[in-house]
Amino acid sequence: MGWEFILSPVSILGLLEWVAATPWSVALHESLYMWPLVESTHVLSLALLVGTAIMLDLRLLGVAMKRAPVSELTGRLLPWTRLGFVVMLATGLLLFYATPVRNYQNIFFRLKMVLLVVAGINVWLFHSRIHRSVGEWDLAMPPPRAARVAAVVSLVAWAIVVVSGRFIAYNWFDCDIQPQSAFVNWAAGCVVPE
Ligand code: HEM
Repeated sequence: MGWEFILSPVSILGLLEWVAATPWSVALHESLYMWPLVESTHVLSLALLVGTAIMLDLRLLGVAMKRAPVSELTGRLLPWTRLGFVVMLATGLLLFYATPVRNYQNIFFRLKMVLLVVAGINVWLFHSRIHRSVGEWDLAMPPPRAARVAAVVSLVAWAIVVVSGRFIAYNWFDCDIQPQSAFVNWAAGCVVPE
């Protein structure tokens, strides 16, 4: 049994169907208060993660808090951004666990995961490369081009993450609503019987 089979949509689906049948997944999915509590925490922690990211991006674009040194802003905001990310990751995994098959085969969930990776790489590149020389451009107006490009990528990536996250709940492209277009069946990983 090679990696191709283990990573094939059929076996991942089989694994997620097993996860969906576990008592805790069923309990969370059918819960009256727990699921809404997790979902609300997921939405509220958006303010910490995406809210602080947007404030820094507006500074890097030179349109807000122009007299605040960038290094001071990143120093003050980053702990809140990190806290927001940890809470969003934890609540997101719980939301996924409540209906794993539906989320795995959800075109918006997949788009969101791809843009989360893009946003993550952009954050890593900014902090590991661009921000290293912040001492040279801490109050420069406008900030260097690389910092402004990182800010634009961040704003666009987080906007798509948030909008696609919101659309996960809508079933327009669900696999169990066939016929769907060949593109949707491919992008959502639908297993359509011949
Ligand atoms: C870390 C950055 C993240 C952001 C900014 C984010 C943002 C969002 C937003 C805005 C929603 C819509 C909430 C609503 O209005 O109903 C949402 C829903 C959702 N998120 Fe996230 N999310 C993040 C991470 C994750 C992760 C890591 C997962 C799972 C691995 C996840 C799983 C979900 C699921 C399953 C829903 C749909 C809940 C439903 O059925 O309505 N999220 N997310």
